[in-house]
Amino acid sequence: MTKAISFVILYIYDLIFRQSKDEIIKRFNKGKSSSRILHDNDARKKAAALLFKNNKRSDEYYTDPVSWTRYLTERGWLGKKFCDPFLGDGGLAQRLKNICKIVTMGKGDFFDLIQRKNTPKCRVLANPPFSSKFLVMQSLLEIKKPFSLILPFQVRFTSLAVLQAYQKIYGGRFNCFVLKSYEQVFSLPDGKKKPIGVFILEWDF
Ligand SMILES: C[S@@+](CC[C@H](N)C(=O)[O-])C[C@H]1O[C@@H](n2cnc3c(N)ncnc32)[C@H](O)[C@@H]1O
Repeated sequence: MTKAISFVILYIYDLIFRQSKDEIIKRFNKGKSSSRILHDNDARKKAAALLFKNNKRSDEYYTDPVSWTRYLTERGWLGKKFCDPFLGDGGLAQRLKNICKIVTMGKGDFFDLIQRKNTPKCRVLANPPFSSKFLVMQSLLEIKKPFSLILPFQVRFTSLAVLQAYQKIYGGRFNCFVLKSYEQVFSLPDGKKKPIGVFILEWDF
């Protein structure tokens, strides 16, 4: 009898909870573009490919170790293993070799790689293409993969509501790790350095 009652209570709770999530998504998706919540990974892949096509140049900035050193030190993660699903020029593991161990998740599209059953267990540490950052986040959050992503600093301000909505929908806790100005620098494909305003978004479950 007690079992039946708790089952009914759980069922009703689940029903209400799901409805309220749907309600958040409906309200949230109104008029939004790149941060729209897409439930289907293939739909995200298509949307990301389109965004990437239109932003190819600005999505090819490579991570500099200086952006991660203090962060990894403060977290006590120096020397730890992380995975990067965005291969880029393939040089990230080499560039960060003095501060951590980067394992790639293989060649191919991020949205395919993270669906694989044998995904490496490690935390994602990445510099995603900024054009599809919200779609990338959704896919990581959906599978509850802890991550630390370098993102444009505007996200902390103009898109805080997006992060809060994602938290309500997908759960977990997020934190914005503020970088010092000298840490906000990237390498371009031609080897030049470029300062870009960024921070690290970390999400844990
Ligand atoms: C901002 S760069 C970062 C590269 C490298 N991980 C680093 O930090 O030095 C993002 C890279 O992801 C690649 N990329 C874009 N869309 C992708 C996707 N859907 N799946 C995998 N890689 C993608 C781009 O070609 C680009 O090289």
